[in-house]
Amino acid sequence: MHNNILVTGGAGYIGSHVIVKLHEVGYNPIILDNFSNSAKSVLTGLKNITGKDFTCYEGDILDEELLGRIFSENKIDGVIHFAAKKAVGESVEKPLYYYKNNVSGLITVLESMIEHDCQNLVFSSSCTVYGQPDELPVTEKSPKKPANSPYGNTKQIGEETIEDVVVSGSKIKSIALRYFNPIGAHPSAEIGELPLGVPNNLVPFITQTAAGVREKLTVFGSDYNTPDGTCIRDYIHVMDLAEAHVQAIKALESVNEVSHFDVINIGTGRGNTVLEVINAFEKVTNKKLKYEIGPRRPGDVEKVYAQVDKSTAVLDWKTKHSLEDSMRDAWNWQQKISN
Ligand code: NAD
Ligand code: WQD
Repeated sequence: MHNNILVTGGAGYIGSHVIVKLHEVGYNPIILDNFSNSAKSVLTGLKNITGKDFTCYEGDILDEELLGRIFSENKIDGVIHFAAKKAVGESVEKPLYYYKNNVSGLITVLESMIEHDCQNLVFSSSCTVYGQPDELPVTEKSPKKPANSPYGNTKQIGEETIEDVVVSGSKIKSIALRYFNPIGAHPSAEIGELPLGVPNNLVPFITQTAAGVREKLTVFGSDYNTPDGTCIRDYIHVMDLAEAHVQAIKALESVNEVSHFDVINIGTGRGNTVLEVINAFEKVTNKKLKYEIGPRRPGDVEKVYAQVDKSTAVLDWKTKHSLEDSMRDAWNWQQKISN
């Protein structure tokens, strides 16, 4: 099997790990990335892991001509669409930039797919569409809540855009994967998350603090209605998440309908508090983390974790890594990039 899969945003954090998994099972991934939030060194990391130089187009998903060229030069059998901006705070400051990049970008990708008779699309969505769910664990049938940022809105609009295109009778088959909180890195420490500037996310902040890049971690609030008062999330190892994409592409390939749309939660089914994440980090690294309890971060949901029955049934997939595995791999990666 040598199906070509176009991976937009393939040099990014999640995309790069998916490249490895696609290659492992015999797909030929082709990268399109403008490197606005990733580094060229990712390609070296990918080569060190796989021994392969993947085809990489440097450019923008908004560039229709470039997309046309990619589809003409390669028979693309499916698209995994990661390319998007993802910083919640920045999206509040620059809404038009976010709508253009994430929504117009998706539209350009869909138009190119339709023009070139490419049917299969995996879309990166997010548990952010659920806001604070009324019931936990959250299922795919749980209502979507009004987005609390332009970023979150681009994910809701993205899902709706694809669904409308499917309903309109075009031959698109798509699965939107609603990721919970991806963490960790490839166990080789050749690729991982490369946050620009001060990280917004918990795990890179923890590893940078332990590496001495940040002075201390602030835990955002300890007065939530959870066992230890800190927020609960469903942290998923990025290699497990990567495997779910391969399964989603395979699932789309075996869908017999002419068009198709589905949404699937991608998480572990477990919730962990911020303090549990810190404890797991300290346990696997044997290091004490410098942290203090601070005020709540505006906009944070109190607790969210996935119900995973649907991903197990539809994708024949389950997570394999523990929280400790994730923290160990995140730390190995941090040590590699701090040196
Ligand atoms: P990332 O920023 O590491 O990767 C995105 C990649 O897309 C980057 O390499 C960036 O350079 C590229 N890109 C952005 N805009 C582009 C454009 N216009 N043209 C070409 N390339 C472009 O982010 P990630 O964490 O790997 O996230 C991947 C996807 O998953 C995004 O759609 C994100 O919204 C979604 N997601 C991420 C998380 C998370 O916590 N990391 C959670 C839920 C959903
Ligand atoms: C996790 C927990 C914080 C940093 C964000 C996006 C969301 C989605 C995933 C893409 C929370 C706490 C964090 C720190 C802390 N992305 N924390 N100190 O908030 O679940 O979601 O990433 O779709 O859209 O908003 O992830 O990693 O920022 O925070 O105490 O310095 O860690 O309060 O409880 P979050 P996160």
